[in-house]
Amino acid sequence: MARSDRSRNILVTGGAGFIGSHLVEKLVSQGAHITVVDDLSTGRRSNLDAIDPSDIDFIEGELSLVLPELQADRFSEIYHLAAAVGVRLVVDQPVRVIETNVLETLGLLRFASSANVPTVLASTSEVYGKSLQVPFSENDDLVLGPTTEPRWAYACSKAIDEFLGLAWYRDQGLPVVISRFFNTVGPRQIGVWGMVLPRFVEAAMAGEPLLVYGTGEQTRCFCDVRDVVEVLPRLLHQPDAIGNVLNVGRDIPISIMQLAHMVIEVLGSTSPIETISYEAAYGRQIEDMIQRRPDVSKIQSLFDFKPLIPLEQTIRDLASERGSSSDNGALS
Ligand SMILES: NC(=O)c1ccc[n+]([C@@H]2O[C@H](COP(=O)([O-])OP(=O)(O)OC[C@H]3O[C@@H](n4cnc5c(N)ncnc54)[C@H](O)[C@@H]3O)[C@@H](O)[C@H]2O)c1
Repeated sequence: MARSDRSRNILVTGGAGFIGSHLVEKLVSQGAHITVVDDLSTGRRSNLDAIDPSDIDFIEGELSLVLPELQADRFSEIYHLAAAVGVRLVVDQPVRVIETNVLETLGLLRFASSANVPTVLASTSEVYGKSLQVPFSENDDLVLGPTTEPRWAYACSKAIDEFLGLAWYRDQGLPVVISRFFNTVGPRQIGVWGMVLPRFVEAAMAGEPLLVYGTGEQTRCFCDVRDVVEVLPRLLHQPDAIGNVLNVGRDIPISIMQLAHMVIEVLGSTSPIETISYEAAYGRQIEDMIQRRPDVSKIQSLFDFKPLIPLEQTIRDLASERGSSSDNGALS
């Protein structure tokens, strides 16, 4: 490819996933040509159906197997979102989660470094662990549980990714930005891996009970993916963000019980709400975080980042994507 095309050629790993597909749409709308690498383990090719095929090269495969076939100097930017995501997956398949999250990121950074391609690494608010000091600021201590609890392997694997990214920045001068996503929600998110909002919406639409794990008093801050992808393409273009970690989310907490009630109300559902133990939900006892709230002062100071889409709207959009909310049999 001609060198002049390099300014518009972007690699998105995990680009057929939930956040990745929205990011690809945003980057294409800005005139970029995208190469997506995705093994479709949790993503779906159909998530990219709205993209004009001339704007995208889709490569299906595991990142570590595909990267040797690609030339890093073709790319002007990389967004690394491919990962094994979610508590359910880490409880069910701990080896896969650790291997994917650590080894794929290591390979990706080596690849990016070979042509000094600016890179965004997706991390997670899970790295804050069970810290009680809210809101969570980027330089706070990470308070993780014991290695005998599999759930902490997800947080730990993502923390290693962060260390790796920052090490490449310091050692090799690779421009890296770490994006610590808080709970991101919106169209195309699926509930099968335990993500709470699509799970609730699907249950409410099917007339089935909304299952709240634990007491439901645990709080989370939800941000619509369409707000998140407004800021992502800007991260590598702000010099003060390079070599830094940024919380990406919205700082409005809601308890999981309140969320269940909101879903019922917004969708006019008659579903009951039931609490179940973590043991019943995951097949074993797991530690949960009581609260998770971002300090967003850093990202706001750098980007004037202000999420606009209300949670009620996200719920309506998730429901309309899955069919009419009055059609209670749509998902059963
Ligand atoms: N959704 C959230 O609330 C949230 C919160 C915190 C962090 N994150 C992070 O954001 C990123 C995207 O998450 P998401 O919610 O879109 O999940 P997702 O599962 O929809 O996306 C991950 C994508 O990576 C692909 N993938 C997995 N392993 C791969 C491999 N070895 N090679 C190639 N592709 C592979 C999957 O098929 C999927 O399309 C992840 O890194 C995740 O850790 C998400």
